Amino acid sequence: MISPQKHPQMADKKPNVTLKRSLTDSMQESLNAQILMEARSSYYYLAAASWCEKEGYEHSAKYLYKHADEEREHMLKIFHYVNEAGGHAIAPSITNIKHKYDSLRQVFEHILEHEIGVTHAINELVDTSFSLKDFATFQFLQWFVTEQREEEKLSRRAVEIFDIIGEKGQGLWLIDKEIGRLDQLAHGGSEGSDKK
Ligand code: FEO
Repeated sequence: MISPQKHPQMADKKPNVTLKRSLTDSMQESLNAQILMEARSSYYYLAAASWCEKEGYEHSAKYLYKHADEEREHMLKIFHYVNEAGGHAIAPSITNIKHKYDSLRQVFEHILEHEIGVTHAINELVDTSFSLKDFATFQFLQWFVTEQREEEKLSRRAVEIFDIIGEKGQGLWLIDKEIGRLDQLAHGGSEGSDKK
């Protein structure tokens, strides 16, 4: 056997870099679809926030702007995961966002439907990763499973607030205020607590 020391050309030879990776094409495709969905969610919240602000629902607008940022973070989390796994995350292009609503209640009813849709999509992704025995992705997705439970809970609570308070008289003003306090729920607080 010729040792690399005796053979300078061999000593310089670097190991082949290959494009091999454990992330399958189909898993990558599904993750890119979720990147698109999270980006759509971000714009969905952003447009809803803008409508609320325009209509004078300042607390709801603030809540929705914050959630627009959170959805972008969700998108980026998956985006970086795909690239770090040797894949190619695709920057989404977003069209057909709803900009107008008939009422504040409609904003939050649509958000609840939207979040339930996202939960189903995450469940499908988890199912795909498990079927492919892609346990790294399976593990990565657990954060999203927990997050969706939280997001659904908040969105459901927002809709319930309309029923509890009622929209007549000062109702909408109070509802807007209560929605501004919803994020306390997400951090383990209760609505009755004064925690800020
Ligand atoms: Fe990131 Fe609310 O879905």
